[in-house]
Order: sequence, then C-alpha cells, then structure tokens
Amino acid sequence: MKAVVFHGIGDIRLDEVKDPSIKDPTDVIVRLTASAICGTDLHMVRGTLGPMKPGTILGHEGVGVVEEVGKGVRNLKRGDRVVIPSTIACGFCSYCRSGYFAQCDNANPNGARAGTAFFGGPELTGPFDGLQAELARIPHAQVGLVKLPEEVTDDQAILLSDIFPTAWFGAEMAEITAGDTVAVFGCGPVGQFAIVSAFLMGAGRVLAVDRVPSRLMMARDRGAEVINFEDEDPVDTILELTGGIGVDRVIDCVGVDAEAAHAGPAEKKSAALKEEFQRELKMVAPTANPQGNNWKPGDAPSQALIWEVKSLAKAGTLSLIGVYPQTVSFFPIGEAMMMNLAINMGNCHHRKYIPHLLELVRSGSVNPTEILTHMQPMTSAIEAYRAFDQRMAGWIKVELNPQLQAA
Ligand SMILES: NC(=O)c1ccc[n+]([C@@H]2O[C@H](COP(=O)([O-])OP(=O)(O)OC[C@H]3O[C@@H](n4cnc5c(N)ncnc54)[C@H](O)[C@@H]3O)[C@@H](O)[C@H]2O)c1
Ligand SMILES: [Zn+2]
Ligand SMILES: [Zn+2]
Repeated sequence: MKAVVFHGIGDIRLDEVKDPSIKDPTDVIVRLTASAICGTDLHMVRGTLGPMKPGTILGHEGVGVVEEVGKGVRNLKRGDRVVIPSTIACGFCSYCRSGYFAQCDNANPNGARAGTAFFGGPELTGPFDGLQAELARIPHAQVGLVKLPEEVTDDQAILLSDIFPTAWFGAEMAEITAGDTVAVFGCGPVGQFAIVSAFLMGAGRVLAVDRVPSRLMMARDRGAEVINFEDEDPVDTILELTGGIGVDRVIDCVGVDAEAAHAGPAEKKSAALKEEFQRELKMVAPTANPQGNNWKPGDAPSQALIWEVKSLAKAGTLSLIGVYPQTVSFFPIGEAMMMNLAINMGNCHHRKYIPHLLELVRSGSVNPTEILTHMQPMTSAIEAYRAFDQRMAGWIKVELNPQLQAA
C-alpha cells in the first residue's frame, strides 16, 4: 500500500510499504477513506518534536471503513464506517475509565509513565504506524473507534479525529464561563476550532492572534476580533481592547514552533529576547534540516507563552494545547505566579469528546468543513505538506484522500 513515511528530519516520502495485519485480538484493520495533515506532523518533520523512528508512517487523523476485525472486538463489523481518535487508549485502566484517555496506563509500549500513545508519533509515543496510508492497524479498536452515521460525510468526520476534539478540550481546560473574554493564540486549524468551541461554551468575546492574513480572515469569519502580531503589539492591543484588564482565558494553539514578531511595534521586544530564543531552540531542535522555505523550526519557542501570560487578567486561566515536547523547560513562571494564574495543559482525550461533537455535527449545530480548505489525493501528500508547512495563503486544513490517485 501507499503511505507517507518519515525518513528523517526534513525528509518525508510517499512510499510503497507492507500492508498492516492484525497483531492483537483487539485490533481492527481500517481502510482509510480520509486522512489529514496536522500542525503536530509539522513539528515532527521540522525536528521540534521527536525523536522519531525512521520508517514510521505519519498521520494521526483518519476516517475509514472497517476491513478486518480481531477476535476480541465485539462491537464492530466489516463494513462499518468509523472515525479514528488520534490517541490510543486501552479503555480498562483507571485513567481511561475516568476519561483521561491520553494518560492510559497500557496503550504505550514504553510504559505507563512514558506519555500519550498516538498514531504516527515519536518513538516515545509507541511508536505506532500512522493514518496517512491506505490501511491502518488500530489497537484497542473496541474502545477507540466511533461509528459514523450515514449523514455525516468523510470531510466532516476527518475534523472530528483530532482537531475539533482538541480545540474543545482546550476550551474546556480554559474554564470558560458565560460572558468570558477569551484570547486564542494561533489561528491554524486548531485555533479556528478553539474559537468555535469558546463561543459554544458561552464566551462573550474571542480575540484571535496570528500573523497570517488568510488565517486571521477565517478567524474573523468565525466571529473573533483579530490581531496581527506583526502589525500591532498583541499584548498592548489585548489590554487596550479589554479596558486594561486583560482576557479571562487564553488558549495556546501555537506550540513549540512559535515565531517572534519580525515587523511592527512588537518586533523590538522580540529582538531583545533573541539570545534567549536561540538558547531555547538549541534545546528544542538541535538537528534541524530546513530546505528553502520548508521545515524551518519556529524561531522563538517561548514567544507565544510570554505574550499569553502578559495578556491574561489577574487570576485568569491559561490552557495549553499547542504541543511543547519533553525537552523544553522554559515558561514565564514568576509572572504567572504573581498573577495567580491557573494553568491547564496536555494532550487531548479524543475518545471522551468525539461522540458529543459528532452529534453537534450531525445535527447541523457546527459545520466543521468551513475550516477544511484543501482536499488532495494522497499521491500529492508531499506537496500538500510543503504548502501547509509554509502556511501558504489559504492553506489552512488539508485532507488527504488515500484512495484517490493524482490526476
Ligand atoms: N494537545 C493536543 O492533543 C494537540 C492535538 C492536535 C494539535 N495540537 C497542537 O496544536 C498546535 C496547533 O496546531 P495547528 O494544526 O493549528 O498548527 P499550525 O502550525 O497550522 O498553526 C499554528 C499557528 O500559530 C501561529 N503562530 C506562530 N507563532 C505565533 C505567535 N508567537 N503568536 C501567535 N500565533 C503564532 C502560526 O502562524 C500558525 O498559524 C500545534 O502545536 C499542534 O501540535 C495539539
Ligand atoms: Zn492532529
Ligand atoms: Zn487505559
């Protein structure tokens, strides 16, 4: 079968690989009808989230049809249409039973304290082969896979595999209550769904920060008040827009590849932190492999965190869903402490949220495809990765169709 394979930092290829097969009784083999590229994949290719095992199939977002069912799976049959949660969880440990699927004790072969197990991730997450492929082995399928009703399309369902649940989880961790003013940093696909989720949870206002005009325009279409951090100082503007108080909640949808401001009134303050950012970059990406405009790590790993803490109101909440790897140890702890901030963070417990969000989509309350900008055959995956990595105008969320050949 065809699959997108990680060979090294800055080196991914569409390869012909062996079909997966059932290994454990609770496995299912799914024939993928939709996959997608995520900001998390970009961290891995840029070298800011790893180490990766060469040969790992990438991708952790998938929708498909059950092809083969292990003996231990009693709730699924061949032919069922399913959405695959990005994280893998056993369903029987105390963490899974409490809804903390991303902290499952059993799914990660590296041990109970090794961190979240997910498809197509770094060595320490399994590694499990991912979902940018024609077929995939899904461990603990009786717990993970969620059946899709006929009226929900693949294009809608692919956004329920990771990014809508993640954004919802981010909004939940932000402790939003009715009327709150929320700032979303990062207007990539996850940020777009964080805006949607914050409003659904009762936010009175949502402010959205990025520097990519097409992403800010999409955020404005979702109802957010947008701030381009290379036109305005994001902290000064947030304080100005909130009567000097700051925002009640912040959701970080940026992660470790954060960029400094390279223009506008915030540039000087970013430049003053250059040495600190370079020290952080050595910690984050000791072996980057940029090629032209591709696969460049962000140049200011803690930039978004610094702005986020400074933008919050006293006693506000910071929710981190942007990914920061185990290797980093920076955070403006003193400022957060002196402001009595609450901080919640982590990987999404996808399986906990998918059924509810699926119902919001089925009933028409949310149409997630408004955020899907590109649908490509998987045979064009590498070009699609390149465009998404460069945040080219209009390239926000890319679906890959594993069964379609390029024209
Ligand atoms: N916690 C989880 O379970 C989980 C799940 C999925 C994705 N994620 C993470 O969420 C993050 C966002 O994912 P995505 O697919 O939207 O990625 P993305 O790379 O498309 O989006 C990131 C956005 O942040 C913007 N940005 C860069 N520096 C900034 C700064 N200093 N201030 C404000 N914005 C800045 C970029 O311009 C970009 O639009 C990634 O870190 C991804 O790994 C986490
Ligand atoms: Zn993802
Ligand atoms: Zn478990």
